[in-house]
Order: sequence, then C-alpha cells, then structure tokens
Amino acid sequence: MKNNGISINTYGNKNNPSIIFVHGFVYDSAMWLKQITYLSNKYFCVAYDLRGLGNSDVGDGQYTMDSHVDDLISVITFLGLNKPILVGLSMGGYVSLRAIEREESLFSKLVLFDTRSDADTDQIKIKRAANVKQINTEGLDPFLNGFIPNCFSKKFREEHFEQFESFLLSAKRTSPIGVKGCLISMQGRSSTTQYLPGIKIPVLIFCGEHDILSPVEEMEGMAANIQTAEFVVVPDAGHISPVENHTFINKKLDKFLANN
Ligand code: MLT
Repeated sequence: MKNNGISINTYGNKNNPSIIFVHGFVYDSAMWLKQITYLSNKYFCVAYDLRGLGNSDVGDGQYTMDSHVDDLISVITFLGLNKPILVGLSMGGYVSLRAIEREESLFSKLVLFDTRSDADTDQIKIKRAANVKQINTEGLDPFLNGFIPNCFSKKFREEHFEQFESFLLSAKRTSPIGVKGCLISMQGRSSTTQYLPGIKIPVLIFCGEHDILSPVEEMEGMAANIQTAEFVVVPDAGHISPVENHTFINKKLDKFLANN
C-alpha cells in the first residue's frame, strides 16, 4: 500500500505489538525480510521504503533528515500504531535517532544497527558532494559499484554471491534523483549525540564485527552514552548485519523485544 508517496508493507496481526523497520541507504524495506519472517507471528511488522528509494515516490528529490522523520511519523499515524518498537539501520538509524530526539514518547523501544549519532564530518560531507558529482557525470552504476561492496563483509560477498548481486542489481534500479536526495539529506543532518544520555526507553544496538562504515569502536562509544543501551557485536557480519547474520540477530532481538 502507499500513503503520501511512501510504500508500506505490513505483516502479521495488527492486534499484536508493532515494530516499524527503517532500512539503510541505498536499499529498501526488503532488507528486513529475515527479521519479519522470524517475528511476524508475534508482532505486527511494518517495513516502509524511505522516500526516494525502493517503491516510494521520488518527488522532487529534496529531502532532509527531518522530512524523513515526518514520513516515519506519517506512517505511524496512517496505520494507527500505538508506541511501536523502532528499528533502524545506518541511514534508518539516523532517521530513528532524530525521531527519538523529536518525539521519544511515540515509541516503546529502539533497536539500532550499524549506525552513528554524530553528524557528517567535513571530510564525509566532501565525500558526499563527490558522490553526487559522480552520479551526475558518470551515472548511478559506478557509484553503486564502489559503495555496495563496502556494505557487506568479504565472507558474505564470497559465500552468498547471488544474494550480494541481487542487492546490487536492485539498488541499480533506484532513481538517481532519489539516491542524490538521500545523500544530501544525510549530509545536512544534525548530530543527535548530545541527546543520547537523555534516552529513557530500552535500546539494543547491533554492530557487525567487520563493519567498515560504522565500526565497532565507534558504535561502542555511542552505546556507552545511552544509559538504557545494550551493545552487541554481530559475528561474521559487515554493515548490513541483519542480512549477513540473521540467525544470530533474530534470537537476540526476540529476547530483547520480549523483555518488559
Ligand atoms: C547506510 O548504510 O545507510 C549508509 O552507509 C549511511 C551513510 O552513508 O552514512
């Protein structure tokens, strides 16, 4: 279904507690299928595509981190979700942390994967500008051929080559305008670090042991700033840990969600 240009998929019984999943750049809600398959008998699972990515509308390509949060809140309102558990990976984590900073009372728990609370450094801002320029001058594919291999561990790429390829091919079907809009929204986001010590809801944080985009030491530091957080390193995984080691993650996630 679609609401306000956002493509939304729901799974399970609406009377169960709800979970809303926010995917990472430059993927779509399909990245959560292993978690949804595992959890949708007990939870009402909602996975939507960020504006500009997947099946959501691209619009004018002018997005901000706050407009992504507005979209998240619109999905919650549209479906009438009562204090969903919020789950976000990487860019989805940026959206989630800003949503918690704006309206923590909307959510019951937070689960973060492979993300950070700090804003882009100047060096990363310059890299994003170069990414936009590359897409403008060479097209989307060369950018994705460089970016996507860094998202997965070497082991995953070798042992699950077809799955890795299907992520790459699916990303290549994305609108360049949507991709550039997301890059610029990440470049312009504010830091949520100063707010971390104020978070009251339970938080679970996962980081793939081989994540080179949001490395373990950095995420460990972020988790240490959140009084309610538990930090878990995911073995045999890179940046897209819920895909790369779903067996490990699903068990931990299930336990965390069951605790009151
Ligand atoms: C993501 O996985 O969402 C991106 O790596 C985030 C980023 O580029 O900062």
